[in-house]
Amino acid sequence: MAEDRAAARPQPALQMADAMLAWYDQHHRALPWRMTPAEQRDGVRPDPYRVWLSEIMLQQTTVQAVKTYFAAFTDRWPTVCDLAAASEEDVLKAWAGLGYYSRARNLKRCADIIVRDHHGRFPGTVEGLRALPGIGDYTAAAIAAIAFDRQAAVVDGNVERVVSRLYAIDTPLPAAKREIRARTEAVTPATRPGDFAQAMMDLGATLCTPRRPSCILCPLRTHCAALTDHDPERFPVKAAKKEKPLRSAAAFVAVDARSRILLRRRPPSGLLASMSEVPTSPFTARSDGETGCGAAPFRAEWQPAGQIRHVFTHFELALTVYRADVGTMSAPDGHWWSPSTDIRSEALPTVFRKVISAALPDTF
Ligand code: ADE
Repeated sequence: MAEDRAAARPQPALQMADAMLAWYDQHHRALPWRMTPAEQRDGVRPDPYRVWLSEIMLQQTTVQAVKTYFAAFTDRWPTVCDLAAASEEDVLKAWAGLGYYSRARNLKRCADIIVRDHHGRFPGTVEGLRALPGIGDYTAAAIAAIAFDRQAAVVDGNVERVVSRLYAIDTPLPAAKREIRARTEAVTPATRPGDFAQAMMDLGATLCTPRRPSCILCPLRTHCAALTDHDPERFPVKAAKKEKPLRSAAAFVAVDARSRILLRRRPPSGLLASMSEVPTSPFTARSDGETGCGAAPFRAEWQPAGQIRHVFTHFELALTVYRADVGTMSAPDGHWWSPSTDIRSEALPTVFRKVISAALPDTF
């Protein structure tokens, strides 16, 4: 078996995989969705549901931020069947604060399909996983490798950094992605591919960091071309970023006599679809909204309460915040009053949490 592998794969690739796995055995991060190498040696496999949930949450979010959400989701919905039985609204509320809300909607759609079409079991191949909502190339490979022991090359931002340094890849990202993928495929081992993938991620997160990497401790240091050239920080080379346009608009925090906050639901498609918000003047990625209090949803004594900024994928938004204490008033059509003690359980995106915090500093 070892000879077969040696015949098929160049020696340095095997050495690198072995070095990574030995390093992972000692230094892996303890994360709630993982099975340790020792547990796996005892035959315990990671639960595909937990692996999938963690991978969706970890897209564009840090491990630290994900931990509490992961615990809350798995306490409340311990299996994919429990999640499929939940309402989309409850899932969106539990997701609030993690950002990129289409992920939460796809999470729910995916759970529904797994239960309806797959008897509650995740497909065990890259292709089968790739066909599900919210699962792209990276996530399909990660779940296939980690949960199903498939020899899939898993390339996230951390792995891109590690591999571009290992081979001193001069092509700037994103053009370098093809080469990075091919290099990752060439070093991904047939045995323990999931641990190997997570070892590469952990290495990128803990030693092979963007600034001041700890090369002296690195299990790949003897193989690393960037270290040989004495300049690992130069990699990955990145194409100059396009500046995001800055959009502006106004946001209105109305507070009633019972300290409740006026909210409404965003439209069912587009930016932050179906999430809750305080009223704002209409804005898009391409057009500003009015910034004066003339754009308020009704007349009241609107007082300026500062400005907040929020960065979306395609633009940055500056919101001028107004607050009004409106006494006793019924909510306009399509709006509702949310007690400030309940506001944490609303499906309120971070941008509107910032707005409410500007107007009512002790709310969150
Ligand atoms: N980032 C994305 N998936 C991860 C995983 N399984 N382990 C550590 N970091 C990750």
